[in-house]
Amino acid sequence: TTVSTRLDEILDKVEAALEDDLVPVDIFNDQEVFEAEVDRIFTNNWVFVAHESEIPNPGDFVQRRIGIDPVIVTRDGQGGINVLSNYCRHRGTQVCQTDSGNSRFFKCPYHGWTYNSRGQLIGTPHLQDAYGELLDPDDWSLMRAPKVDTRQGFIFASLNADVPPLEEYLGGAGWMLDAIVGLHPQGMRVAGPPDRYRVKADWKTAAENFSGDVYHLDVLHWGTEEIHVSQGLQMSCEIARRYEFGNGHNFTGHAWTKAIHPGYVLWGYPEHIASQFDLSGLDEAQLHVVNHEPPTVGTIFPNLSFIRFNTPAVPGGPMSVVTSFRQWQPIGPGEIELWSWQFVWDFMSEEEIEQHYVTGEFVFGSAGVFEQDDTVAWEGIAKAGASPWARKAGMSLNFQQGRNSAVDQSPDPTWTGPGIKRNTGYGEHVQLAFYRHWLDVMRGEGAAPTATEGN
Ligand code: FES
Ligand code: FE
Repeated sequence: TTVSTRLDEILDKVEAALEDDLVPVDIFNDQEVFEAEVDRIFTNNWVFVAHESEIPNPGDFVQRRIGIDPVIVTRDGQGGINVLSNYCRHRGTQVCQTDSGNSRFFKCPYHGWTYNSRGQLIGTPHLQDAYGELLDPDDWSLMRAPKVDTRQGFIFASLNADVPPLEEYLGGAGWMLDAIVGLHPQGMRVAGPPDRYRVKADWKTAAENFSGDVYHLDVLHWGTEEIHVSQGLQMSCEIARRYEFGNGHNFTGHAWTKAIHPGYVLWGYPEHIASQFDLSGLDEAQLHVVNHEPPTVGTIFPNLSFIRFNTPAVPGGPMSVVTSFRQWQPIGPGEIELWSWQFVWDFMSEEEIEQHYVTGEFVFGSAGVFEQDDTVAWEGIAKAGASPWARKAGMSLNFQQGRNSAVDQSPDPTWTGPGIKRNTGYGEHVQLAFYRHWLDVMRGEGAAPTATEGN
């Protein structure tokens, strides 16, 4: 017999609600749900930790988190990437106390145990007198993520060794990533360190929004239309395109050439940039996507999101196709640390890079005109999530949009790419796909298929 815990009751409630395209408010700010997410999602699956361009040289490192645990992502002397626990093996103190840098070793500030960029213990003060032969350094390396792999320079790690290969996990999302940043042999690189700030919102809220909440654009962000930074926001749902890849990965694009920006191909990149692209590696469906219905936002489950669109920094100013990747780093129930990187092409001039960086920060930096609209709305959801009244009343959030709509939301039968494509922004299929996958992982289903599958 199974003892039904409070968490199981919440998950049962989510399952029943999802049948009706509803999501109970309880999951957006709850200690037990959060702890289970850290245990079953963040420390049990592939998660993004850093981009290779942040650590190009031997000795480069950045400090990040997997779940709530600090990790050091290093480039070692052999060019390898290591994802190391930032807990000293002697007493557990953090051996790395800075966000990023270049160092051949990490010396623990407490008693001086010293590790190299592969995590091996290479120095112990007073070794002979203190330990003699007893201490075999090989037994006392920093813990390391058992699985590390990259796609287009994006470094993913898993603390669970028993996960499917990254390529399989990403599936269609990897295919889409190739079409977004693989347009040039050198790929894209970060334009600087990430913005980092805290928001009292649940990580799922942000990940869901970036899966493709097109519906909010001409309301929450209407101010950007009024100041002539955006154009045609009220057409957003009509020209949106949905890409659902399974495993909780979803992207949403816009058919700019159909309306608003008829001249746009390739997100509206100007000719001098677009002419540098090498599209020969793209398949037919990818070519169609980048030319006519390119992704604007997307989320790779659980918490890596993407945004790219053509925008001026000031009304009437020069246009830039800005690309930002962002991570919704869970801090606690109803709280994230938001990390966002501006990405640029290596072949751009210094001047262009600066323009793209400044424009990207203007729209989606920590004080960006779009960014600050979103975070205020998201914080409200976490408040509802913690509400005793809402919980007692059984309040659920509505994901039923499109159920009775006359707009055709069926999968595009002509689609030859991976997953499902729908030719409208109406309906909340991508958001529901995100929460259904979340539930599967929280139930221990479908997340990290064990190696026994198929035996
Ligand atoms: Fe690191 Fe003692 S805790 S050396
Ligand atoms: Fe938004």
